[in-house]
Amino acid sequence: MRDVAIIGIGQTKVGEHWDTGLRHLALEAVQAAVKDAGVDHIDALYVGNMLSGELAGQEHLGALVADFSGMRGVEAFKVEAACASGAAALRLGYVAVAGSMADVVLVVGVEKMTDQMGPQATSALAMAADADYEAAQGLSFVTINALLMRRYMYEYGYKKEDFAPFTINAHANAMHNPYAMFHQRVDVKAYVNARMIADPINLMDSSPVADGAAAVVLAPSDWARRLGRKGARIIGSAVATDTVAVHDRHDPLVLEGAAISSYKAYEQADIGPEEIDFFELHDAFSIMAALSLEAAGFAQRGGGLRLALDGEIGIHGRLPVATMGGLKARGHPVGATGIYQAVEAVQQLRDQASENQVPNARIGMIQNIGGSGATVITHILERIE
Ligand code: COA
Repeated sequence: MRDVAIIGIGQTKVGEHWDTGLRHLALEAVQAAVKDAGVDHIDALYVGNMLSGELAGQEHLGALVADFSGMRGVEAFKVEAACASGAAALRLGYVAVAGSMADVVLVVGVEKMTDQMGPQATSALAMAADADYEAAQGLSFVTINALLMRRYMYEYGYKKEDFAPFTINAHANAMHNPYAMFHQRVDVKAYVNARMIADPINLMDSSPVADGAAAVVLAPSDWARRLGRKGARIIGSAVATDTVAVHDRHDPLVLEGAAISSYKAYEQADIGPEEIDFFELHDAFSIMAALSLEAAGFAQRGGGLRLALDGEIGIHGRLPVATMGGLKARGHPVGATGIYQAVEAVQQLRDQASENQVPNARIGMIQNIGGSGATVITHILERIE
């Protein structure tokens, strides 16, 4: 297996792009990544996307983006794994380069969610839940996460405001990220007083519906070294699954898929959680941030929130998370999110994160979760010196 590196990154601002089509958004990220990588050809293009068929009436994104990007003829297709579609496309690109099936692979995540009204987006997202046993009962992702959050508060004795540090940290970090959707500081008062969505989840516990595209170029690591590129090697790449419906799990507060995915990635990288310098976690809801920290081995059961309450998740903390704003404040254009995480990790590992730079960042972990933990894709990246 060959060693694989990310040699180029590109992203668009996350937000409401009503005047920009899906293909145009993808193109903007693609052009930026290809320019950054300094390559003159690519062997394959993988597009991470979840909802283009449902929300934009457009499938067949592989050929569409390849053609529109001036790469007609290249191997290209769309990869879907709910909100983990971006990381699923990255995983496919990694496998292709590591397995010597391709030398240069372009991976782009793109999503347009805001052209439709809120209820349409909510119903479309719910297609990633169990259609017969969750969605048919009226559950959406907000309400599923509300049930998990309430259970967490009941079992461990936390109060609603104890979740505030995740939101405060994400919004503080997004202030310095020009590509983030929100540039608005949040304090405990703003967190507690935010509009309730599905009790106990309020607006400040929830990631927004958003549009955006991000792209990375993958190549063998020795290329990156030969070209003198500062970048990141992928030293761990792992996927694991769990039940789609939360009620089918042994314990709803344990993300088994996330634990398996994390530990497979640690094993490949030959490191443990204590060697991770920052963690781009899947904070679609604040409860997901707490559960991910526990599943990935950064905290004991019920201790994910404690890590945040103890001030350990800030840029200068023991484990910085959501360093460029996370899903909560950079935004969560679902099928693009996994690639935004990769782009941001590379920014950290190249010392390009400006005010958000994690000091001495050498190894970063990114984790993209589909559904309520049913598909979990973890990558571990290491700085190329
Ligand atoms: N955090 C902070 N502010 C938010 C926000 C969020 N998550 N979502 C929307 N806003 C702001 C908007 O910017 C807007 O501000 P403005 O009035 O200053 O312009 C205002 O709230 C109203 O926005 P709107 O889009 O009308 O909100 P909404 O009530 O329709 O949607 C949610 C809010 C939380 C219901 C929606 O974002 C949502 O469904 N999020 C979850 C998405 C999801 O499930 N993703 C998959 C996860 S697995």
